[in-house]
Amino acid sequence: MTGIQSCLALRRGADFAKGVANMCGIVGIIGKEPVAERIVDALKRLEYRGYDSAGVATLSRGAMARRRAEGKLRNLEDRLDRQPLDGIIGIGHTRWATHGRPNEANAHPHATDDLAIVHNGIIENFRILRHELEDAGVRFESETDTEVVARLVSYEIAGGLDPAAAVKKVLPRLRGAFALAFLFRGREDLMIGARRGSPLAIGHGEGEMFLGSDALALAPFTETITYLEEGDIAVLTQTSLQVFTEEGEPVERPAQQIAAGAFMAEKGNYRHFMAKEIHEQPEVVGRTLAAYTDMASGLSRLPDGVDVDWKALSRITITACGTAYYAGLVAKYWFERFARIPVEIDVASEFRYRDAPLDENGLMIVISQSGETADTLAGLRYAKEHGQRVLSVVNVPTSSIARESHAVAQTLAGPEIGVASTKAFTCQLTVLFALALQAGRARGSLSEPNERAMVDALVSVPGLMNEAIRHEAAIKALARDLSKARDVLYLGRGPSYPMALEGALKLKEISYIHAEGYAAGELKHGPIALIDESVPVIVVAPHDEVFEKTISNMQEVAARGGRIILITDQKGAEEAGIETMATIVMPDVAPMVAPILYALPVQMLAYHTAVFMGKDVDQPRNLAKSVTVE
Ligand code: F6R
Repeated sequence: MTGIQSCLALRRGADFAKGVANMCGIVGIIGKEPVAERIVDALKRLEYRGYDSAGVATLSRGAMARRRAEGKLRNLEDRLDRQPLDGIIGIGHTRWATHGRPNEANAHPHATDDLAIVHNGIIENFRILRHELEDAGVRFESETDTEVVARLVSYEIAGGLDPAAAVKKVLPRLRGAFALAFLFRGREDLMIGARRGSPLAIGHGEGEMFLGSDALALAPFTETITYLEEGDIAVLTQTSLQVFTEEGEPVERPAQQIAAGAFMAEKGNYRHFMAKEIHEQPEVVGRTLAAYTDMASGLSRLPDGVDVDWKALSRITITACGTAYYAGLVAKYWFERFARIPVEIDVASEFRYRDAPLDENGLMIVISQSGETADTLAGLRYAKEHGQRVLSVVNVPTSSIARESHAVAQTLAGPEIGVASTKAFTCQLTVLFALALQAGRARGSLSEPNERAMVDALVSVPGLMNEAIRHEAAIKALARDLSKARDVLYLGRGPSYPMALEGALKLKEISYIHAEGYAAGELKHGPIALIDESVPVIVVAPHDEVFEKTISNMQEVAARGGRIILITDQKGAEEAGIETMATIVMPDVAPMVAPILYALPVQMLAYHTAVFMGKDVDQPRNLAKSVTVE
């Protein structure tokens, strides 16, 4: 080992290249009977984390065997049908590649003569470690950062350390974020897991132990879960769990009972999770708003533990990614309107690096469905380091973002499996609306009657969502036309501007049609050059205080031959006075809550367009549900 260490010292200052990394899902089982089938079953529940390749390794009578396959899990299942795997202990992986091709050689588990490993995350200093191992004569079989960890641990085992000691020695040398699981040749009674930056849950069964990227993966096996903390190393046998801190000190981590309902992840009668999740919105938005409103007083309320001194705030900063960011954009209108408080918002990938000055009395709101988005988590940490109180709006209460926040305002959307966010988004909006009302009341800028009117408006949303869903057949018919477009523009003004952004994101991510959202008033500053009869323009315009302005922009589109799809209400449809390709007439709704309702038609339009085009709606290419790499 000395040779490697001295090489390390020499190269320590060299450039750290990003690894052949993954964000992925990992699973491990020490069972009483063969485990391969259950590992694949658990991987299916983790496919939302990536689906570029997959693999399983097991130990049978001490000998290691593995099967790996490029592409989706069904390819691995086919491989296992042809070449089954025996063994009562095993690990599995489903991969989302960020660097390096998603081929079989790069698929996990990676193995050496001594061990097999699965990994979620990035080892940032893998190149330098790899060069040093290569200089010491170690040969590699893949391009991955993960194999470096396997080779380093193997090297320590060859040097005489037992598996746990070898893992403990290697981990401090790794830079980056990871969750790892190891299997050791000849040790059918031992599995080791470790986490730094990426989540890892341990499941306790009857004479069996489990490990997985989240509790959902382990749901059919056990409801007793121990969540590892940052830096933890877990040593599992069939009947025991020992946890050590990064420094190698034994530590107690409590086991929790996770409610069975939290694991609901079936499609039911729907063809896709996305369809099911769109249709669930009346229910989950209803459930969420019930937790944030007090029916007796007709006012908003916050669940226990969400205590913010709104009055003392000088500014709110919001950060999030993708759809969650658009929820934040809508919330900016609400906080400014109801609470007269300045709001700054930025995508987390920018916010985390721009060294933003933050007010001493500032509140940071982070928004995330998964609670694991790497950039959002980094934004949260930056804000905490700079003295902000952090309130997170998250769907997964056990997630890293939830656990690292000072207060958590949970969205009660239930598990969201479709890669394109739908119900989590409308639940985020619901929670943010209630937060803005609370802020308005506390700061004296929203009168009680006005707050009551806003709560009434919010409470009306689930029923109106049900009505909106009845338009689905008409939207489906429209999707056929939309599927022929190469480019689509979405326009909106005020709180409908983020809905235009969201509509465009939904369409492009699942149908692969190029789509952009614009603030309606920005059109004439450039994008109008794109308008001709081949570009459908979808205008999101409830009859609100900026309706007429939006309609003027729509006139500009019509004058240039643009084909318009107008999403509005009855009054808007009557007053628009422009020939459209189609008008989707939404139920009347109070303008302030319109974004929550208007999310539905843009979601349904994207969904049906993608289905019509035969796309893989729940697992669009190149995407993953939980983006745990930056
Ligand atoms: C789009 C979508 C993504 C996510 C984004 C943030 O439909 O789902 O844009 O909104 O990756 O993810 P979370 O909310 O888990 O932080």
